[in-house]
Amino acid sequence: MNSLLSRLVSEFHRRFGNQPRLFRAPGRVNLIGEHTDYNGGFVFPAAIDLATYVAIAPRADRRLHAESLSFPETLDTPIDQWRQPAGNWTDYVLGVATLLDIQTGADLLIATEVPIGGGLSSSAALEVATALALGAGNRPRAEIARLCQRAENEFTGMQCGIMDPFTSCLGEEGRALLIDCRDLTYRAVSIPPGIRLVIANTMVKHELAASAYNDRRAACESAASRLGVAYLRDIDYSSLAGTELRCARHVISENARVLQFEQALLAGDLHQAGEQMYTSHESLRTDFEVSCEELDTMVAIARTLPGVYGARMTGGGFGGCTINLAAADSVDAATGELRSRYAAATGIDPHIFVCRPAAGASEMTA
Ligand code: GLA
Repeated sequence: MNSLLSRLVSEFHRRFGNQPRLFRAPGRVNLIGEHTDYNGGFVFPAAIDLATYVAIAPRADRRLHAESLSFPETLDTPIDQWRQPAGNWTDYVLGVATLLDIQTGADLLIATEVPIGGGLSSSAALEVATALALGAGNRPRAEIARLCQRAENEFTGMQCGIMDPFTSCLGEEGRALLIDCRDLTYRAVSIPPGIRLVIANTMVKHELAASAYNDRRAACESAASRLGVAYLRDIDYSSLAGTELRCARHVISENARVLQFEQALLAGDLHQAGEQMYTSHESLRTDFEVSCEELDTMVAIARTLPGVYGARMTGGGFGGCTINLAAADSVDAATGELRSRYAAATGIDPHIFVCRPAAGASEMTA
């Protein structure tokens, strides 16, 4: 058991006086296919070996009580009269518990390795781990993912798509998932053994990230409905202009890039796969307008590094992380360069993680 988990269990004993069950749900990194999920398109994420853990034990009264090792706020509410969202991390737990309509009280204690607000789905990992802890484990995984997405949409106001909870639920060790978000069919694609996923956290999260995300989503949906299609994925954008044109051009070209990236990966052509990532970043920067200076700097540095095949922003944007596809034997040199050159350019020390694709959420043996 790693040290965070031992701390979680001993803190649970100290705070609640009994032995918990333990559940884990991973964060995710998206290799390519950004802002396509809510447009009915393709995404290509992998669950990663950084996870959120929920320790849980039943309570005799009908109350739900949740605490976190990372935040001071607590949730304490009768399950027959749910409290309103509070505008902090407890809303994810509240949302999942409410939608599951739980019938027994419980104490929860939460710990996480997923950087919070870093674009690696700390929120989906919390929702999915909570859903399993609260007894959803025997439901189909895609249904759990939908419930978690709904919890986030309805209880935090973030109109996120299905990618993050789906990946946290269904991730596979050593593989990324190519998901068609229109019908949630997917295939698991092996990441070549000589490749490493290097995640570079810019350490910035720009204000308005959530509202800008919701604005993009609303613009895509209104363009689709004006054109009489269910999803922007399906349109011919030649008749559009302005923001609608740029949004549609991003979504449609990004969908094509996901499939080309998969083909290149399967053919072992990592340079071609990497080019798709750089082009994706450009499209997100110029057409979809969800990048920022720090992300652009991190990608520009990656582009000059030997052994880095490709790089791009990952997740919703406006800060957070980049994903770099790197040769295993270049990783140490590449992470050193990313760190020192980003720090020199911005004055910020980035956090860099070398991750591997991990399995989806599960109960753990204590
Ligand atoms: C966030 C959302 C996802 C997805 C990405 C952008 O991570 O939660 O649903 O839309 O942004 O690809």
